Amino acid sequence: VLSIEDNETVTQVGPGTIMGGFMREYWIPALLSEELPHPDCDPLRVRLLGEDLIAFRDTAGNVGLIANLCPHRGASLFFGRNEEAGIRCVYHGWKFDTSGACTDMPNEPPESNFKDRVRATAYPCVEKAGLVFVYMGSRDTLPPLPGIEALDLPAGKYHLLATLKECNWLQALEGDIDTVHAAFLHGGALQAEWFPEGSFSYYELSQRAPHFAAVDTDYGTIYGAYRDAGHDRDYWRIGQFLFPFWTSPGSGVLGRKISNKAWVPMDDTHTMVFWIQSVEEATHRGTPTVGDPERLPNTTDWYGRYRTVYNSENDFMIDRALQREWGSYTGMPVQFNNGPEDTAVQVSMGAILPREIEHLGTSDLMIIRTRQRLLEASRAFLEHKTPPPALDTPSVYGVRAGGAFVPKDVDWLEHVEDLLRPYVDHPDLAPDIQGGPRGKGRRRTAATPE
Ligand code: FES
Ligand SMILES: [Fe+2]
Repeated sequence: VLSIEDNETVTQVGPGTIMGGFMREYWIPALLSEELPHPDCDPLRVRLLGEDLIAFRDTAGNVGLIANLCPHRGASLFFGRNEEAGIRCVYHGWKFDTSGACTDMPNEPPESNFKDRVRATAYPCVEKAGLVFVYMGSRDTLPPLPGIEALDLPAGKYHLLATLKECNWLQALEGDIDTVHAAFLHGGALQAEWFPEGSFSYYELSQRAPHFAAVDTDYGTIYGAYRDAGHDRDYWRIGQFLFPFWTSPGSGVLGRKISNKAWVPMDDTHTMVFWIQSVEEATHRGTPTVGDPERLPNTTDWYGRYRTVYNSENDFMIDRALQREWGSYTGMPVQFNNGPEDTAVQVSMGAILPREIEHLGTSDLMIIRTRQRLLEASRAFLEHKTPPPALDTPSVYGVRAGGAFVPKDVDWLEHVEDLLRPYVDHPDLAPDIQGGPRGKGRRRTAATPE
């Protein structure tokens, strides 16, 4: 439950809002590098935190992210000529470089110095791990990039993708730190007995109501959902929220998995999810996550990038017969990392969930903690200029997520300390402990052991 006021604070991201101002202090993944494939390529419409921006790659290969409306009389720079180290407005020829400086004003007399007094709003960009990061914040000295391990994977070792979700960023993000939904939304038609005894899936499906812990950290919040795993130990699913919109969920094997998502608000009602993970991890997951979900072709529209074929217009392709016959819990197509199922429930809440209607239970502990952290940190920044958490200590982002067995009589966080650490190989950890593939919808038939 959140009051109407708290809900507005945590969901609204446009210029001048509390959360919008807070988020802008961090580096934000804005687009994929491959969306601007070569110098002087076609400009791109990018909506980010409620601002309409035009992305372009200049002749030297540098990326610019500049306000859509030309500072002269407001024509869209999307139609601009991207040439010779800048983007030139096609209305009267004013030209801007990636810093927003006006470098040519051919409709003014040559002796005029008007162009030196005109600037376009433009934000600094850097590229890393196939992503273009932008800084839209208030600092003159740029902060460091977050020290997320997945961003340090070398080319060829990471898999990156972007997906548009037609809803507010927070309800989408909350799906990723809500670990218990996996045993219903994705696994409600699966039975524990179909998986090897002793595997993660076995315990997850035989105890669909785990116990929870959630703890504040210097990067955000960490949770553990634990289930009895015999032998005086528990199976823990451990994952994180990292400021201001990063997650790493508790699926997979802790110590092996390198995987992070950024839930980037395009505006209050659209979110672009950037997911970067190690190829090794991606190929060992139960459902296919290498490659792409089935997509509609990209268009040049503000909302035309990285849409999926399943969407609210086709009810996420729900098949009621499949649902009724337990082919899967939802009846939605078993596609790419359960994408239709996750997106359907997130988008079904409406563009912005009115959180005063909620009834949160014990399994929502992590979501409650994370909202509080966001509200506290964003208000502290607005009211007291308290530096945003983790912004100046990028190494705190170096933390892994996943599942592990933990003896019952020890402190869980202390016990997994080594496994949480980034940049460490654990050759002894095998992916099979998860219990094998589970993504395929499996019917309860006579041939299937009950
Ligand atoms: S509106 Fe862009 S140059 Fe005149
Ligand atoms: Fe999910």
